[in-house]
Parts: sequence; structure tokens; C-alpha cells
Amino acid sequence: MASPELLDYYRRRAREYEAIYAKRERQADLARLGTRIPQRLAGRRVLEVACGTGYWTVLVARSAASVVATDAAEEPMRIAMSKDYGGANVRFEIADAYALGDTLGRFDAALAVFWWSHVPLGRVDDFLASFHRRLEPGARVLLMDNLYIAGSSTPIAERDAEGNTYQRRSLSDGSENRVLKNFPSEADLRASLAPHVRAFAYEPLEYYWLVEYTLK
Ligand SMILES: C[S@@+](CC[C@H](N)C(=O)[O-])C[C@H]1O[C@@H](n2cnc3c(N)ncnc32)[C@H](O)[C@@H]1O
Repeated sequence: MASPELLDYYRRRAREYEAIYAKRERQADLARLGTRIPQRLAGRRVLEVACGTGYWTVLVARSAASVVATDAAEEPMRIAMSKDYGGANVRFEIADAYALGDTLGRFDAALAVFWWSHVPLGRVDDFLASFHRRLEPGARVLLMDNLYIAGSSTPIAERDAEGNTYQRRSLSDGSENRVLKNFPSEADLRASLAPHVRAFAYEPLEYYWLVEYTLK
């Protein structure tokens, strides 16, 4: 089941969400990823999990054969749906990443950006089971998320007994929000994915990590 606190936070953040893509120091990384991710998904039938406001959906739709973009919250998805996909084959579905249903279809590629970091350590296997059920053997999967960069990242305010880390984030509505945000190492990612993958590649950029793997 989705975390109500996380969903509520992203619902309220939807209109201000894309400010993260305007940070000057991150433009070089974003430009590289904005080329690389669509290239690696070109010609594929892509499932996107936690698509949010569709920043990556727009880029991927240009080269993919089709995209089914999913998110559990309506507010960011409404913004994603309002964007111009230039006639590309894109469908939007409200779906919980932990319970991706059969009706979504099956895919030969998948994308999840800034999602892994919000999955509690104890739910990684649940997420992967739900995610991989929707994919064909041999599917290509791309995951991208934040590296923790001292002085640039929002500081870690708390760590729970399981090892999950939390940030305090404020929104323009004046609220202070406690948000689970994990920063896995390459070894953490490799260990979680090892049982499921044939090939695993980890690339650290300046602010982000990119993982690509092939599903067994
Ligand atoms: C950090 S945003 C990422 C948005 C987009 N992928 C991007 O990179 O711009 C995280 C997204 O996860 C969504 N979300 C939260 N819980 C979810 C769940 N259980 N299943 C699917 N999406 C969820 C939120 O609504 C939000 O849009």
C-alpha cells in the first residue's frame, strides 16, 4: 500500500515540484540524463513508475514506441497530462507502485526516476515484485535518483531503527514535512537487484546515480 504521508506531500507539492529541475548547478547532469535515458529506451514499450509531473515522460515519449506513465497521486499526474507529447503513444494511469495491476499490460522496458529513494528499506522487495511482474524477461530497466551531496542536498534530519533516513522539507503552503528519503550506495542497489538481474550497471554523476539492468 502507498504511504499516505508521502502521497499527501506530493499532492501538495505538485505545482512547485519542477523547481528542482531549475537548479543551476545540476543542469549539466540533467542534460546528460535527458539525452541518455530516452536513448536507452528508444523503440521500447515503457512502463514509467511514479511519473509525477511528467518531466521524464515528455523526454522518453519522443523516442519510445509507447509509454504507460503511472503515479499514485492525481495532482502531479494532472500536470503531466497537460503537457504536449507531440502525438506520441502515451497513456496515464493512477497506480500504486507496490500494486501495479495486470490491466497496465506488460512491458519490455521501465523507468523510475526519484522513486527508489522513497521506498522504505523494508519494502524494496515488495516494490520490486510488483514492478518486475509487469515486465517481460529481458526487459531493460532504468532507475535514477539523487546522490547525497553535503551542502547541496537537504540535510538528513533523522534515521529510524531500520536505517531509513528522513528529511524535513518545507512547502510554499507553509507546511513542514517529514519525508523518507534514502540514499543507497552502489553496493546496496546491487544487493537488492542481484537476484533479479542479468546485467547491472551503476553510473554516478555529480548529483545523481543512474542504474541500468536487464531483467532475468
Ligand atoms: C520525487 S517524485 C518523482 C516524480 C518524477 N518521476 C520525476 O522524476 O520528476 C515522486 C512521485 O512518487 C509518487 N508516489 C508516491 N507514492 C507512490 C506510490 N506508492 N506509487 C506510485 N507513485 C507514488 C508521488 O506522487 C510523486 O509524484
